[in-house]
Amino acid sequence: MPDIGFVNGRFLPLEEATVSVEDRGFQFGDGIYEVIRTYHGHPFQLDAHLARLERSARAIELSPPWNVQQWAAYMRDGITRSGYAESKVYLQLTRGAAPRDHVFPASTKPTAVMTVREMKPMEPVLQTAGVAVMTMDDWRWGRCDIKSVNLLPNIMARQKAKQAGAFEAIFVRGGQVTEGSVSNVMVVKAGRLLTAPEGERILSGVTRTIVLELAKKEGLTVEERFVSLDDFIRADEIFLTGTTVEVLPVIRVDGKAVGPGGSGKPGPVTQKLQAAFQHFVG
Ligand code: PDD
Repeated sequence: MPDIGFVNGRFLPLEEATVSVEDRGFQFGDGIYEVIRTYHGHPFQLDAHLARLERSARAIELSPPWNVQQWAAYMRDGITRSGYAESKVYLQLTRGAAPRDHVFPASTKPTAVMTVREMKPMEPVLQTAGVAVMTMDDWRWGRCDIKSVNLLPNIMARQKAKQAGAFEAIFVRGGQVTEGSVSNVMVVKAGRLLTAPEGERILSGVTRTIVLELAKKEGLTVEERFVSLDDFIRADEIFLTGTTVEVLPVIRVDGKAVGPGGSGKPGPVTQKLQAAFQHFVG
């Protein structure tokens, strides 16, 4: 049973895992989620992911059916059942199935869903050569810190980026760079590492936190502040961080070469942090 499904405490083959059409996740996007990957078979930064799951749930007034220990036990069970060398685990929690009404149902139990699939690493050439990104208006809602399943702006943005030949969409709100559609973004400028501050404008990425810690250990000055689009384009280096992208150099923005001296090549700080991250994950 390689691809694993899980619904409300029951494991089953992924193709047999179903929820009601009345589920509020399906009807309203009334739910939250997490994506966790394994390294050497162990879920990476599990505590941080489960803490964020709880924060997201609390922010939408949803009570998780289990505590973090129980979530962790189910996840480990799913990973063992899948038998993959490396897995990607998706957790989703919704307000449950109820007749459609915007108001919260009085007594519905939440729906908890998990899938475990094989984690296929991204093409190594992207990590070494870097990727193109496309900037666009950040037209998401005002609580981007909540990992909500409402991803319509993110998917529209990433699709538009893909159609333009770019790997990722970078959101810009009021002239300030916030984050990517599936990743956080950092820049290096005059020897400093800059990234948008935690708060309602970005998702507080688990990878972001680790990379900032690694950067400090490498002796870099870290500033958590917004960067204007002008400064972004002129940065010495740009890179993305995230569960699926790890530390990924950006070499083109809106079709223009970026990186050291406008070279269109990954910069030395990015490469140092890539190496530090790979060392950290073992
Ligand atoms: N995305 N910002 C956004 C908007 C994201 O969706 C993600 C992750 C991140 C990076 O967070 P982390 O380092 O915790 O993965 C930042 C996941 C992988 C997804 O939606 O598939």
